[in-house]
Amino acid sequence: MTNKKGLCLILNLILILSCKPINNDAPVRETILLKEGWSFKKGHFPEAKAINFDDSSWEQVNVPHDWAIYGPFDKTIDLQTVAISQNQETEASEKTGRTGALPYIGEGWYRNTFSLPELNADKRVILQFDGAMSEPEIFINGVKVGEWKYGYAYFYFDITNYVKPKNNLLAVKLNNREKSSRWYPGAGLYRNVKLIVKNKEHITQWGQFITTPVITDKQAKVNIKTKVTGKNLSLVSTIYDASGQRIVEHESSTTFNDEFDQNLSVPQPKLWSPEQPYLYTAVSQLYHGDELKDEIKSTFGIRSIEFNPDEGFLLNGKVIKFKGVCLHHDLGPLGAAVNKSALRRQLAILKDLGANAIRSSHNMPSIEQLELCDEMGFLFLAESFDEWKKPKVENGYHLYFDEYAEKDITNLVRATRNHPSIVMWSSGNEVPDQWGSEGVKRAKWLQHIFHREDPTRPVTVGMDQVEAVMASGFGAIMDIPGLNYRVNLYDEAYERFPQGMILGSETASTVSSRGVYKFPVEKGAMKQYKDLQSSSYDLEYCSWSNLPEDDFILQDDKPWVIGEFVWTGFDYLGEPTPYDEYWPSRSSYFGISDLAGLPKDRYYLYRSRWNTTDETLHILPHWNWEGREGQNTPVFVYTNYNSAELFLNGVSQGVRSKTKNGTPQERYRLMWMDVKYQPGTLKVIAFNEDGQPAAQKTITTSGKAKQIILEPNVKTLKANGEDLAFVTVSVVDDNGIPCPTASHQLQFSVEGAGQFRAACNGDPTSLALFHKPTMQLFNGQLVVIVSSSKTAGDIHLTVQGDQLTPATITLTSE
Ligand code: GAL
Repeated sequence: MTNKKGLCLILNLILILSCKPINNDAPVRETILLKEGWSFKKGHFPEAKAINFDDSSWEQVNVPHDWAIYGPFDKTIDLQTVAISQNQETEASEKTGRTGALPYIGEGWYRNTFSLPELNADKRVILQFDGAMSEPEIFINGVKVGEWKYGYAYFYFDITNYVKPKNNLLAVKLNNREKSSRWYPGAGLYRNVKLIVKNKEHITQWGQFITTPVITDKQAKVNIKTKVTGKNLSLVSTIYDASGQRIVEHESSTTFNDEFDQNLSVPQPKLWSPEQPYLYTAVSQLYHGDELKDEIKSTFGIRSIEFNPDEGFLLNGKVIKFKGVCLHHDLGPLGAAVNKSALRRQLAILKDLGANAIRSSHNMPSIEQLELCDEMGFLFLAESFDEWKKPKVENGYHLYFDEYAEKDITNLVRATRNHPSIVMWSSGNEVPDQWGSEGVKRAKWLQHIFHREDPTRPVTVGMDQVEAVMASGFGAIMDIPGLNYRVNLYDEAYERFPQGMILGSETASTVSSRGVYKFPVEKGAMKQYKDLQSSSYDLEYCSWSNLPEDDFILQDDKPWVIGEFVWTGFDYLGEPTPYDEYWPSRSSYFGISDLAGLPKDRYYLYRSRWNTTDETLHILPHWNWEGREGQNTPVFVYTNYNSAELFLNGVSQGVRSKTKNGTPQERYRLMWMDVKYQPGTLKVIAFNEDGQPAAQKTITTSGKAKQIILEPNVKTLKANGEDLAFVTVSVVDDNGIPCPTASHQLQFSVEGAGQFRAACNGDPTSLALFHKPTMQLFNGQLVVIVSSSKTAGDIHLTVQGDQLTPATITLTSE
């Protein structure tokens, strides 16, 4: 080994070749994704763990899979008669749609077979789940190998003693209890399942931790700690830059407590940031003598984080505020089944919005989402729990807290700590343990587990019981105090907490339905209307929450507020506040974008301050108000410009300028409250700092809808059977003007190298099934999702509807 190493150092090229496994035929580590070949059935089938059980009549599915998203929606599913104490309710009432009204409750079984041809006495086999909803029990060849509880946790078992080379049966039982969630959790094997086959001398599962403790312009110190199993081993770690160039290599043969501790110097490091998400790769090779025994590849970024009371949060030495959104894990019409192209599309939308951060509320994020945040440049607040020991819902995490909290946090940190995007952990959200001294001890204990596993990142909790946590000391012990809402208590909390900063861990919870406008235009809490929609004039919120501007003011005027995470970036299934008690509301109204990912008006309000590189100039409402002629129809403009003039059919409606001397809304929106509606054209001309016209925008009353328009988010897909294109469908009149109130029933058909996957119109009250190739437009728009197949070629999507000229779009799959 030493000789070979010497040679490697001298002859660079030969080194790279000679350091490859000696036996190239047998890979030292194999990872097998168990995606295909699964049989699934919902129900109680204890005999399904047996090898000879006949599952030939079961449904054939691919994993990730969400058994509940195919519906149907049903009011009686998970009907809860409860008082939601976080919503300040004191009396119980019947809640429908709280968890999405989709059939996720009950048992479900998955079966698959796999072979391990290279298996011998020197091999070890790991079975890993990135999450399984929920209470998974795992059987191999009829024998139970283990179980877990929390549906969001990553976990694995060593199944070496249970497997043989051919035809192993893997059976997984899942069970979702009623009243176990406050939102739609999904159901089944909704994240990846993988087998890892490695040698008995190996790098421990999630055993590598890469940090960058010293960074200067000249060099970065990259510390790589690697846990191993076996004796007389040496470890060669090599760092490559983003173009695959080898930068530096280090070999060690000494371990401390079975851990190698290596320091490598990267000259002139390129730092990771949201603007330039530069990634390096470390390859670590484990040798026994001259024989390569294991090899892993870890992607990492070189970046520094610091939270200090004088400046707040610093990334690479520069102060940066969190312009963040909270996200639940469901992907709207795709349910909880993780899909990388759907996640990529979400992040592309959030990039355009100008967001720089995501909070995985209120649980562990998918690994795929973290990989994308590393690549695309998002800061990440990775959360763990919505409950500790005190319940929010009858069958929530409190049932498992004592036994599992430490294991779940340990796995969260170990599985994800090399992601540069993660800059903070959260041990909980609005946990009822905020009350009482036991809660303070639990907060301290959980924070300690995070610190033990990762001394480099701070821990927060989203706190809503601000008075209680100020009194008890709960808030004072947190690394970073996070406040959920309670804008009126920020000042006091800042004074009383010792940390010198406040994070808006959850903000706004403003409600709106895309394209819906209510009159008169008035600010109000918990407003309800007969059609179960909320107004997109963006003036409606919940009894515990507020409008976006209340947070903007804190962000802008208090340097010690280190940013915010808006509730939420996208609408999600379940929690249909303010219509928790009204059927058929079954998804949220909180999103900046709707359930289909289409921007609501609020999108442009956030964009006008978050996206500092692109112009925002957005007019609302739409201008199709037949029957409102002569009536007051306020017009709002969301823009990054400070002032603008509005014209209706060429007649000036006056100039408006943003001002600090008015309402919070007048500081951030331009509002013409007394425009009398008449059909025609609204034009806004925005002025630059010198008062010169800088940009303009018009919207026009449309005629009858005639033509269907299709706009895909991508034109080329990967022919892998899971890549997706999201096609926005809208309708225009004879003159090409969008029809904002159209509600036509449309039909979708896909031909060629792809399939229709799902559709969604963003209407929180729609009970139409997402996977049927027909749906009604909601306020003129919907989204059709097309999936690639495994064959390359053209994919043709055709959309038609009565009295409309159909449209076809061709995508390419390669
Ligand atoms: C918060 C809670 C979120 C969500 C939100 C709705 O209190 O943390 O999960 O329920 O309210 O406004």
